[in-house]
Amino acid sequence: MMISLIVAAGLADEIGMSNDLLWHLPNDMKFFKNTTWGMPVVMGRKTYASIAGEPLPGRFNIVISRQPQFDPGSEKVWVVPSLDAALAKAAETHCKEVFIAGGGEIYAQAMPIADRIYLTRVHEVFPGADVFFQEIDIRSWKLVSGLDFKKDEKHLHDFSFQVWERI
Ligand SMILES: NC(=O)c1ccc[n+]([C@@H]2O[C@H](COP(=O)([O-])OP(=O)(O)OC[C@H]3O[C@@H](n4cnc5c(N)ncnc54)[C@H](OP(=O)(O)O)[C@@H]3O)[C@@H](O)[C@H]2O)c1
Repeated sequence: MMISLIVAAGLADEIGMSNDLLWHLPNDMKFFKNTTWGMPVVMGRKTYASIAGEPLPGRFNIVISRQPQFDPGSEKVWVVPSLDAALAKAAETHCKEVFIAGGGEIYAQAMPIADRIYLTRVHEVFPGADVFFQEIDIRSWKLVSGLDFKKDEKHLHDFSFQVWERI
């Protein structure tokens, strides 16, 4: 099973602030939905809280928490105690790819074992960010595709969809 990170990051690799995102980019939300639809999506307990504590529809939701009693409020969510357990659960779906959807703690743990990164690069620096993505080491990763978009009335920032693969 391919292990993919899917993330949106500003120019300083910032990804969040006060357990929320730093921007509103509807086409990035659509990209996330289309890319992950029908597939297992793994997230940390804080990211799950940040999406209102509700499972993402149409996907296998796997939430990582060290709290044995953590109640996700939905029977559709699998709660697991580690990244390894999340990947084992994802493998049970027989999907060809698992998506690691954050946040910072979970990306950091998954990056060394990931095969691919779907990065939405937001072309701005966001002061006040408190969670960051690790810098992509170009000795280990190559950019295999990139699509650039200019800001418009619905998107306040320029952004690019990039796909990186491990060398
Ligand atoms: N821009 C993006 O693409 C993007 C995507 C996702 C999230 N985000 C942002 O990222 C921020 C959240 O990230 P975060 O780093 O604070 O939290 P996080 O990674 O979402 O979740 C951290 C939690 O995951 C659990 N956890 C982490 N490592 C674990 C391990 N090895 N074993 C078991 N459980 C483990 C712990 O839960 P317990 O405390 O329950 O034990 C920990 O508190 C928010 O601001 C969110 O908006 C941004």
